[in-house]
Amino acid sequence: MAKELIRIKNLNKGYMLGEEKVPVLKDICFTVERGEYVAILGPSGSGKTTLMNVIGCMDIMDSGEYYLDDLPIHETPQEALTEIRNREIGFIFQNYQLIPTYNVLQNIIMPLLIRGMGHREAEKRCMETISLLGIDHRLGHRPSELSGGQKQRVSIARALVGQPSLLLADEPTGALDRASGQEVLKLFGQLHEMGHTIVMITHDLNVARSAKRIVHIIDGVLSETPQGG
Ligand SMILES: Nc1ncnc2c1ncn2[C@@H]1O[C@H](COP(=O)(O)OP(=O)(O)OP(=O)(O)O)[C@@H](O)[C@H]1O
Ligand SMILES: [Mg+2]
Repeated sequence: MAKELIRIKNLNKGYMLGEEKVPVLKDICFTVERGEYVAILGPSGSGKTTLMNVIGCMDIMDSGEYYLDDLPIHETPQEALTEIRNREIGFIFQNYQLIPTYNVLQNIIMPLLIRGMGHREAEKRCMETISLLGIDHRLGHRPSELSGGQKQRVSIARALVGQPSLLLADEPTGALDRASGQEVLKLFGQLHEMGHTIVMITHDLNVARSAKRIVHIIDGVLSETPQGG
């Protein structure tokens, strides 16, 4: 087992604009070791979400290599990516992306049911996962009955329940007030202490500072130190 969980070499990706391909991610090289807590910091339009979609196996790259947990993602057919994504990655989004008609428990166990796990086993796994999250008393509630901070904690539980090798968060505090945002970041710190590998995407330096390592993305170029700085 390689020490690196993520190994990306010379990743390029662009979007078609009419007849022309506009480059968005430019020759990105990026590695993340198991157990690291890394923030990718960059301004709006710099390519953060595009990069997250590639790391999260939700979108394919134009060229380059990407190994996730030693799996060559760049050589994997797109149909096979869904299962890899379900097993390897826990997603946390700015807008939570909870299913409004499901209660908290149903939202959390959904990734396990998709894997084919039985309901009873999935509920047991849910109960083991949520002790850290302070949502035990909300399992029967719908997302609309929760605060933003609670919703994000439910989405973190959903990300954790399948024991993925990577937690991938896109602006996880972007929709939260300061206090709830701090709580979510504190939780990320605890998850890091527990050994989870976390990649967090943000435009906010103060948020990025809670990670142990910051990489910068500016105009599709990734660097460990800010360009010109
Ligand atoms: N589906 C798409 N088709 C064409 N262009 C796109 C598409 N998605 C993103 N882009 C372009 O790629 C660039 C990077 O977008 P991206 O969403 O990755 O930025 P971002 O850093 O996540 O920005 P934000 O902080 O505003 O979320 C932008 O110029 C954007 O217009
Ligand atoms: Mg974005």
